[in-house]
Amino acid sequence: MTISSAPGKIILFGEHAVVYGRPALAVPVTHVHADVDVSDSARVGIWIDAPDVDLHAELNTLPSDHPIASVINNLFFLLRVSPFPSLNIKINSTIPVASGLGSGAAVTVALTRALSSHLNYSMTDEEINAFAYEIEKLHHGTPSGVDNTVITYARPVYFIKGQRIETFKIGAPFTILIGDTGISALTRESVHDVRRLWLYDKSRWETVFDKVGEISFTARRVIEAGKSEMLGELMNENHALLQKMGVSSPELDKLVEAARAAGATGAKLSGGGRGGNMIALVEKERAPAIAEALMTAGAKRTITTTVG
Ligand code: PMV
Repeated sequence: MTISSAPGKIILFGEHAVVYGRPALAVPVTHVHADVDVSDSARVGIWIDAPDVDLHAELNTLPSDHPIASVINNLFFLLRVSPFPSLNIKINSTIPVASGLGSGAAVTVALTRALSSHLNYSMTDEEINAFAYEIEKLHHGTPSGVDNTVITYARPVYFIKGQRIETFKIGAPFTILIGDTGISALTRESVHDVRRLWLYDKSRWETVFDKVGEISFTARRVIEAGKSEMLGELMNENHALLQKMGVSSPELDKLVEAARAAGATGAKLSGGGRGGNMIALVEKERAPAIAEALMTAGAKRTITTTVG
């Protein structure tokens, strides 16, 4: 039996401005994870059991564009596995789906690692990451590559679209509280709305994106230097700029304010906005009380995670 696990991810700084070439920062969320367990099967076939998505099926009965089938088929093609072995594959994930936490990329990475190592093919992290990016492209068109990179290396990533994806070190661990509004919002819609603003007055929005880019740049230095207490103010500034872009919402603002009022060092929305998640920088001992304040303010779920 071969077991593999991959974390979730969250964007700390720079969403939206990253679409316009400014840097963004994303970090792994190790508190939630996708776990895959591969074993030899006595029955002929590849039997997939993924109770979270109510999937119990043999590989050949799935459509070829099914996310899990496409990982297995493309991986076996890449590794030239022929004939296909008989396997049992169990997939469990505690990463909330479709909420900007990278659940799809985490399943891809954990499944790729478990399968390749069970079949004695050694894949480097670089190879896993490149393969996971190809899978992301199949399902998301033009993904940035942030999700697969953060999740493969389980390290923070500094990212400039089309130019640079770098992992970097954390000087000292810090605690992030994630609050979910429970509202599903399409990232492509908020991205589209920001584009309309930008088209209408490019110089104004380029200045706003520059400010966000400077925040991401500074945040990386602050994290590397282990001075994470300085991240709170950067989060607050980044949230104000996202509000200007019109991608916050009353629900997100309410959670951000509740976190600050309950003692968080700083807070902002995370990801596409309008719904989805917000994040707060908190002192570890205060996390439970602030999480409770978020629930009172309408959060549907909170996740506390230590970065580093
Ligand atoms: O969908 P999420 O939460 O991983 O983040 C979207 C980030 C955006 O900057 C809004 C869009 C993008 O493609 O970078």
